[in-house]
Amino acid sequence: MTNQDDRILIFDTTLRDGEQSPGATLNGDEKLAIARALARLGVDVIEAGFPIASRGDFEAVQRIAGEVGIEGGPSICGLARAMKGDIEAAGKALAPAFNPRIHTFIATSDIHLEYKLRKSRKDVLAIAPEMVAYAKTFTDNVEFSPEDAGRSDPEFLYQILEAVIDAGATTVNIPDTVGYTTPAEFGGLIKGIKENVPNINQAIISVHGHNDLGLAVANFLEAVKHGARQLECTINGIGERAGNAALEELVMALHVRRQYYNPFLGRPADSEKPLTNINTKEIYKTSRLVSNLTGLSVQANKAIVGINAFAHESGIHQDGVLKNKLTYEIMDAKSIGLTDNQIILGKHSGRNAFRTRLSELGFDLSDNDLNKAFLRFKDLADKKKEITDWDLEAIVKDETQQPPELFRLELIQVSCGDNAQPTATIRIRTPDGQELTDAAIGTGPVDAIYKAINRVADVPNELIEYSVQSVTAGIDAIGEVTIRLRHDGKIYSGHAANTDIIVASARAYVNALNRLYASTNGLTEDAVVSSVETVAL
Ligand code: KIV
Ligand code: ZN
Repeated sequence: MTNQDDRILIFDTTLRDGEQSPGATLNGDEKLAIARALARLGVDVIEAGFPIASRGDFEAVQRIAGEVGIEGGPSICGLARAMKGDIEAAGKALAPAFNPRIHTFIATSDIHLEYKLRKSRKDVLAIAPEMVAYAKTFTDNVEFSPEDAGRSDPEFLYQILEAVIDAGATTVNIPDTVGYTTPAEFGGLIKGIKENVPNINQAIISVHGHNDLGLAVANFLEAVKHGARQLECTINGIGERAGNAALEELVMALHVRRQYYNPFLGRPADSEKPLTNINTKEIYKTSRLVSNLTGLSVQANKAIVGINAFAHESGIHQDGVLKNKLTYEIMDAKSIGLTDNQIILGKHSGRNAFRTRLSELGFDLSDNDLNKAFLRFKDLADKKKEITDWDLEAIVKDETQQPPELFRLELIQVSCGDNAQPTATIRIRTPDGQELTDAAIGTGPVDAIYKAINRVADVPNELIEYSVQSVTAGIDAIGEVTIRLRHDGKIYSGHAANTDIIVASARAYVNALNRLYASTNGLTEDAVVSSVETVAL
């Protein structure tokens, strides 16, 4: 594929740049679940990780390459600094994939060269093509990124891009690493590259950008107008600092406004042919999965996937929408897979119906996990008459996608009220098998529980986030609690769902403690995976 082709490629980096969000560390099973969801969504390339960073990352990339990167599936990509060791690790991890891609990068801005790399432009101009040529010994599909391109001298960029394309790079990616550029500048940069890199038509121009000024999506859309044909993005826009360009926003902007973008891709304005390969009906489900597994909740007013994105509150708007949806709606909620989530199961539904619906939702559970989730479903069905897809997701996640149960909550008892001192009693089984009971008072019931747990567990931490969200409407709704703890500069998340939010709060806290404890005691791959932070990009 070259720049002349009239479709936009979607390169998803949720599992690499997205996973670099503080506290978003995922284990191997969780990464595989997300990779499968991305394949169902229809992304062209999955950047599955940074294989040299840790054993956990290497294994996750290798597993995704073998299980998701099959013929007819997406290309699987691994990141590598422009260094032989990195490239070799990526090449090996990607070997099982049908269409592996190595993405190698080196910084090109003067500020990175002087302070980070301590190298001259001449050095970088020699290293980049040499490493691209080395990457070509593992796969034909090689992407090169001049890191911090947004702040690099365009003349130097032209030189380096020409050299890496000569060396065999099939995609050249232009990152706005620090989210500094504005749409006109970024579009101008892509235009300059198209006009000044003599061999540019032998490679696809890609863009990558961070959202520090909230401009990443706007920058990409401008880049498309000037020839960018691959967009690097993440689900829910997660990523370093303020995140990356959000996949769902880019895809829906190109879909809803295709008449505007068609001519920039050489099509008639009224062409109905999709501009991307994304099955937009999978967007909402994928967004939920990523939010659930990373513990990074989606803000209510987030474009496309926020819970308010399709809600009309004001009377005037409601009246208009009732008369004709087009008065206030530019896209149909169904187009992102929203309204398919009607009530589907109840008290009398059997295991088969349960299993079938879960697999329709993209959950592929082992028999053991299915049994646990089914028991939980029956328990919920006794309390809640109507069970929706959101409830099912919450149950599955709560039962199956949790860290190892090192501390186990055996009992929670709380007393509180307007004239009472909130008091909690808890009983916990510790990792060495002791059963300990303690009590504490707090400013509220959740505070009292956390204090009581801390007295027993004795795992130092700082609570930096507590949030509770209702999964569906109604008094019997499941509440989902997300907790983030900080310890030694790292962030650990915990998540739990229950119709009783006090119970969910306690379990979410214990889940986060289990992650922290497992990591600091070297008990799971998380300890290895999170060491990605120690590899300087
Ligand atoms: O933001 C960035 O520059 C990156 C590169 C590795 C592409 O993530
Ligand atoms: Zn990035």
